[in-house]
Parts: sequence; C-alpha cells; structure tokens
Amino acid sequence: MWYRRLCRTPGSPGHVVGRIETPGIPRLDRKSVKTIGKVANLEKRTAEQVGLELKNGLGIAHTRWATHGFPSEENAHPHLDSSGRFAVVHNGIIENYQVLKKHLQDQGVKFASETDSEVLSHLIAQCYNGDLFDAVAGALKKVTGTYAIAVISSEHPGVMVVARCGSPLLVGVGSGEMFIASDAAAIAGFTRQVIYLNDHDIALVTSAEADIRSLDNVAVNRNVSCIDWEPEAAEKSGFDHFMLKEICEQPEALANTIRGRLDTRAANARLNGLNLSPYELARIHRIVIAACGTSMHAGMVGRYYFEDLAAIPVDVEQAAEFRYRNPIIQPDTLVIPVSQSGETADTLAAVREAANKGAIVAAVCNVVGSTIARESGRCIYLHAGPEIGVASTKAFTCQVSVLLMMAMLLGRNRRMSYQAALELIAEIENIPQLVREVLETRSHIETVARKYAKADNFFYIGRGYLYPVALEGALKLKEISYIHAEGYHAAELKHGPIALLEDKVPVLALANDLPGKDKMIGNIQECRARCSPVIATATTGDLEVEDMVDDVIRIPRCSQYVAPIVTAVALQLFAYYIARERGCEIDQPRNLAKSVTVE
Ligand code: AGP
Repeated sequence: MWYRRLCRTPGSPGHVVGRIETPGIPRLDRKSVKTIGKVANLEKRTAEQVGLELKNGLGIAHTRWATHGFPSEENAHPHLDSSGRFAVVHNGIIENYQVLKKHLQDQGVKFASETDSEVLSHLIAQCYNGDLFDAVAGALKKVTGTYAIAVISSEHPGVMVVARCGSPLLVGVGSGEMFIASDAAAIAGFTRQVIYLNDHDIALVTSAEADIRSLDNVAVNRNVSCIDWEPEAAEKSGFDHFMLKEICEQPEALANTIRGRLDTRAANARLNGLNLSPYELARIHRIVIAACGTSMHAGMVGRYYFEDLAAIPVDVEQAAEFRYRNPIIQPDTLVIPVSQSGETADTLAAVREAANKGAIVAAVCNVVGSTIARESGRCIYLHAGPEIGVASTKAFTCQVSVLLMMAMLLGRNRRMSYQAALELIAEIENIPQLVREVLETRSHIETVARKYAKADNFFYIGRGYLYPVALEGALKLKEISYIHAEGYHAAELKHGPIALLEDKVPVLALANDLPGKDKMIGNIQECRARCSPVIATATTGDLEVEDMVDDVIRIPRCSQYVAPIVTAVALQLFAYYIARERGCEIDQPRNLAKSVTVE
C-alpha cells in the first residue's frame, strides 16, 4: 500500500509523506487511521478499516517522532480541526503553540491531543474562507517555529497544500500523480524527479502539477532534480538489516567517495564541490567544523588531519551550541558543516550563522540537494548512496575520507611535499581494500561481540587519531544495543571514570600499532588492575597487546591517517553483533530518528 512504501524507510520517524492520484475522492471515502508503534501496525489497521490501496484520491501520512506529548493514538497525526474538514500532518515544532492554543481555547476550540501540531488544523479552519491555499498561508503567518506540513480538506478533493520552514520537504513528480515527502528515499520507488522546496515555500499540489509560491502568494521557480541513485540502493538486498548492509558495502561506498578525486600527476586532491582557487585556499587561516553525533566524530578526526597535514588550527563545534554562543568567525575562517542527511536542524542553524558572519562555508554531505548542501553554497558530496539504518556507518567512513582529502588539498597548498602527498594518495586508494580485510574477519568479531552482549556498561578508550573513533564506537553501541557505553580519551579515565571499572564493566581499548600505543598499553594495565575485561583492537601481526587482554580484534596495518576509517568498521560490526545478540530493533532503535530536523 502506498503509505507503507512511502513510510517504510526505516529511521524516518518525524517525516511526512503524501500522494495524490487522479483528482476527486468521494466524500464518503475519507478516512483517518492512527496507531502507535510500527508502520506495519498501521497497515493492519488500515486493511481492517479502509482496505489496502489508495484508489483514485489523495492521502497524507506521518511517522511521528514525539516532541510534545507521549506516543499515543491521540497524539498521532493527522490532526483534524473540530469540524473534521481539515487534516494536517506536521514535522517540526510550533514554538508559539501555547499562546495560540490558549487563544483558540478561549474561543471555544476543543483540542484532542497534547501536540503542538494540532493548533495548525484549528488555525487553518479559522482562516478558511473558501480557499485552502489562503487558509494555510494565513495560518502559517501566525506560527513561529519549524514545519514541513501537508494539508488536505474534504472541501477540496484532489488538492493538497504543502509548506516548509526549517524542516525538509520535497515534491515527487510522477506521471499523472504527485508525491510529497520529507526524504527522497521514501519516494524513490515511485519517481526519480523531485523538486526540493525552500524555506517559506508553500505549494498547491494536484495530480498534475505543483504550483509553488511564497507565503505572500508570489510565484517562485524551483528546479526539478533527479535522484542520483537506484531505488534498489534503498533495499536490504538479502541482508538482515540495513545497518549490516551499509557496513558491508563500505568498500564500494568508499571507492565512490574517492573516485576521481585523487590526482597522482599533481599529487593532490581534486574536490570540485569546494570551488576555491589556490589563492583562496591559501587565505584560510582557521577551520571550524560544525556537526552533530557521528558526523561530529568524523569532524573530530578531521581536526587531526587539518592540523597535521595543513597546519591550520581547527575547532570542532557541537552544532547546536555554535549559534547560541556567538562564535568568533573571521573572513579567513572556513566553516565545514558535516552532515549525512544535510537536514540536521542544528547543523543547518550553524551554516546560517556562519554565512551571516561572513565565513566561507563548504559542506560535507551525503544527500544531494539537501538543505545544508544548498545553503552552504559549496558542498563536497560523499556519493555513499542512501544510508537508511539510523546508526550512521558508511557515512562516517566516507566523511572521514573526504576530510582527509580536503586536508591534503589544503596541505599541498601550504607545506605538504609532493612525495608525502603521493604516499598519502596511495594509502587513500588502498582504503577500500583495508576495509574489505576487516569485513573478512566479521565472524571473529561476532564471536567476541556475543561474549560481551550481556554487559550493562561499556567503556571505549582511544588516543590520538583513534580517540574520536572511541567516541564513535561507544555511540554506535549505545544507540543500537541500549547498553550504556562511554567513549573516553584513554588518559582521561583516571580523572574520574576509572571509579566505575570492575569485573562487569568491559573496556574496549583501541591499541593499534600507532603513535601512542605504548601509553595505551599503560592504560590497558590500569583497566586490568580494576578487573575490567579488556577487548583490544590491535594491528595484524602485532602480538604485544595479545597477552594482556581478554580478546583481540585485528585491524590491518595502516597509517594513522587511514586507521580511524578501518578501525571504525570493526567497531560498527562489534556494536551490530551485540545488538543482534540482544534482539534489538537495529535499524530503528527506540527514540531515534534518521535525520533530526528539530532543534
Ligand atoms: C549516528 O549513528 C546518529 N544516528 C546521529 O548521531 C547522526 O550522526 C546525527 O544525528 C547527525 O546526523 P547528520 O549526519 O545527518 O547531520
């Protein structure tokens, strides 16, 4: 059924979808069905109450990521006005909803949910004067906050009004039918032609066209783009989970990220999306990387690259904090937002703040045409293909690879020698092969993971280039297995967290044969002295660590530049197999959304 296919993309809670077929829907066919839990529950209930297919009409659906009010049927979308004529699905947050709600209640409007979104349906009903477009535009002028909405009305069969501000929304152009969705992955199986709406766009969509305007009713032109990956890329292709598929396809994803970007003749990287001349590159004196979650961890690895290879000072900013603490940005600052989805609200806010302050902004994104990619002006795409599993895997390794190539470019623009760059190019070209070698050890990683699957607490420790990887490994474990996992710099343990170590708290130590290994050996001993079981990553052939730990995960020999990528893959597998052993919902962990479009 259409909404199941549109909504089924795992990790898409918070997203809105809609479909319009041929105009006209008999009044009696109007139905609203809500459930809590999985889309499959909705499918079952809809089959019972309505039948399985949308026939000759239009529909909207929403998988809610709770912001205001518990996950319950009352709070599920769509929200209807009191007369039941206007139905709204909404992704985002209406920040002034309390004032609006109070005002509506004072006028006798009864609310059926605890959500902020419900004010929209009542406001639209209040603004309605025979024209749905005007009513929605009128209602939106009263709200502050973020939204991607789709509105239908029994008064206007065959018509949908959609609008966005701060939350992603696109229109899919089909043949004799149109779609709307928060994410292209939801509609790729129906059409490849998409129109990305900008903030403050509002569109009247029928089965034949999308008339896009500003809130003040001035027509605007938006280009039709083509989804640049095959719909099969968003299928599990025989894997049990998207996450495992995405871990395993990293050699290809990384090859795609790297392809065409290394120039052995010039011993340099070629990053077209960056679009900065050697003169402009030379003027960059500081870099700020703004990102969230896994993308921030990629940025933290990037900091080591830029400082080591290009000698440029780097700050890595938690994007949510960037805007609010009035960051110092100068004209020679390069701000790099890093985001898989290109829609993360906090990272987008950082992009806008940086642009306002006159920075050069160059994004690293996976999703082509995403808001961050467009608003940054410059974007280096990952070309990793769609990432569906909530836990980011291939995006991380591809982000790190892009940052490495960027650092090489800036390094060559400064002090990096031709020979050193050639050596680095050879290493980068070998990344897919090294990742393949880690994947070949997955049954061993699975065996180790199963041994620790009952732990309630975990520590991950790393140093140098592997410090951010420890943070990322811990994040992976906690988000999909619900084990409490902390990532720490190995030296930081003794400043407090070591108090928690005991025989039931395993420590995963990143002890690859890299600078800092001798210190890490000392840290491992400290953990063992507190009776913690220790699992170590160690370089293939390096036996020094083996005798002092309980289990070893082997990582092929590689330099510190490449080690974060290769080691992260082993930690992704480790987290995956633990979560699987615990019977967790790996692709859709509780409480999480794939792209976080609210602040
Ligand atoms: C990673 O596994 C997470 N699910 C999450 O931390 C994610 O990386 C973060 O929300 C940022 O998303 P983005 O890369 O799409 O901006």
